[in-house]
Amino acid sequence: MRFKSRISRWGAASIGMLAFLGCSADRKSPSGFRLPDGDPIAGLAVVQEMRCHACHRIEGHDELPAPIADPAVPIALGGTVAVLPTDGKLVTSIIHPSHQISSRYAHDMVKSGDLSRMGDYSETLTVRQMIDLVAFLHTVYEARVGEPREGADWRMTRRGG
Ligand code: HEC
Repeated sequence: MRFKSRISRWGAASIGMLAFLGCSADRKSPSGFRLPDGDPIAGLAVVQEMRCHACHRIEGHDELPAPIADPAVPIALGGTVAVLPTDGKLVTSIIHPSHQISSRYAHDMVKSGDLSRMGDYSETLTVRQMIDLVAFLHTVYEARVGEPREGADWRMTRRGG
């Protein structure tokens, strides 16, 4: 029965390994993440205060000053997208923008060194401002009619500076 016990030893080792990997991955899991409802009008005020429009054109909000960033940021916020962004995607884009930087643009247009040109809002936004900002951003995205393509992502949106 030596063979059998070797199998079970490997079995136990791999279950242990999976449990270990599972636990360490869970720490970063978005599971359990739930934002309270925000106020989109207050969110628009945050956009103005934080000057998001210095870099982004915002669909449907031509009352905001035009972007002034040089080189121009090739990413407009809002418009028709294949999949609507979730709270989690928006929060990550705002407070951890370098987590997933689009590789579809020339380096200098989206990055400064290795980081996003967007900078770091984690020291400047209050939690309430972030919640309202996310509520506002949800109002500017619209789902494209029809089934989303397999693997479609909200960032594959119509762009324009
Ligand atoms: C200095 C320029 C700059 C400013 C100011 C700026 N952003 Fe950005 N933003 C970027 C760049 C560059 C990207 C693309 C690279 C990336 O994903 O980090 C981006 C990406 C994003 C995205 C992801 C959009 C997509 O389709 O991929 C969101 C959402 C966003 N910004 C929201 C904001 C909000 C809200 C503010 C104001 C609090 C803001 N940005 C201010 C430069 C800026």
